[in-house]
Amino acid sequence: MTRADPLRQPVRRHSWLRRAFFRTSECVLRMLGGRAWYRWRHLSPRGLRVREEVVRIPEARADLDGLVVAHLSDVHAGPFLKGRDLDHVLATVKARNPDVIVFTGDLVANRHEEAELVRAELGSLSAPLGVFGVFGNHDYRDRREGELAASYAEHGWRFLRNEGVRIAERRMVVTGVEDPEEGRALDIDAARAVLEPGDLELCLCHHPGAAAALAREGCVAVFSGHAHGGQMDVWPLTRFGPPHPGLRVELGPTVLIASRGIGVVGGPLRFRASPEVVFVRLSSDT
Ligand SMILES: [Fe+2]
Ligand SMILES: [Fe+2]
Repeated sequence: MTRADPLRQPVRRHSWLRRAFFRTSECVLRMLGGRAWYRWRHLSPRGLRVREEVVRIPEARADLDGLVVAHLSDVHAGPFLKGRDLDHVLATVKARNPDVIVFTGDLVANRHEEAELVRAELGSLSAPLGVFGVFGNHDYRDRREGELAASYAEHGWRFLRNEGVRIAERRMVVTGVEDPEEGRALDIDAARAVLEPGDLELCLCHHPGAAAALAREGCVAVFSGHAHGGQMDVWPLTRFGPPHPGLRVELGPTVLIASRGIGVVGGPLRFRASPEVVFVRLSSDT
């Protein structure tokens, strides 16, 4: 598929003025202790939310009953989040021993070097069926996302760039696409080329706005992030962020799981939108 594809909508690149405003505000709030505040208020046991979701799978695939996917998103390493700030997040994931871990983009806040701030910590995550990720719009800022993928690959992370990975022994595929807003090209057909009849698909796409176009029979879930659950979920502040489609949206045969994410942009503040780790359990029970 090409740039004319509906998967590319809605395109909303940030202007330099908007980015300059965010950078300035982040700089001031960082100097005022924003990082320590964010860790204390939102990344500790008092602030981090654990969300449980059940995604229905066909009875014919009851062999995957009970499989658990840990979903992380929008870490936004940078002014308000560095490696040790993720201690409780990582402990929460590791305590559940998920079968698969997926990350749905926005690893950094502003520059690709910020990915190094959390690489060792995130790299300590592992799962029997793998750790998979896609890039978010922030990850393309320097157009060096390939280097980011290579450095995380040293820890076993696999960033899917219009690719699918088939886990043959479980007859399932994890697909991932480039971000609809900032990815240079988006090709879901290429990502799905590895699918074989009867395979169950889990799809990763940073922008939840593309989920409806990704829904199809056999794809039980699209995992997304980006909207931060509104981050400051109160009018008129919601107007400054991307549209928030809801945390769980039924799209016919597919369910969209949209994470509120872990980190923040613009300032170390969240309201009615706690950071979260989502655990998705597959079930063939009605
Ligand atoms: Fe984000
Ligand atoms: Fe994003």
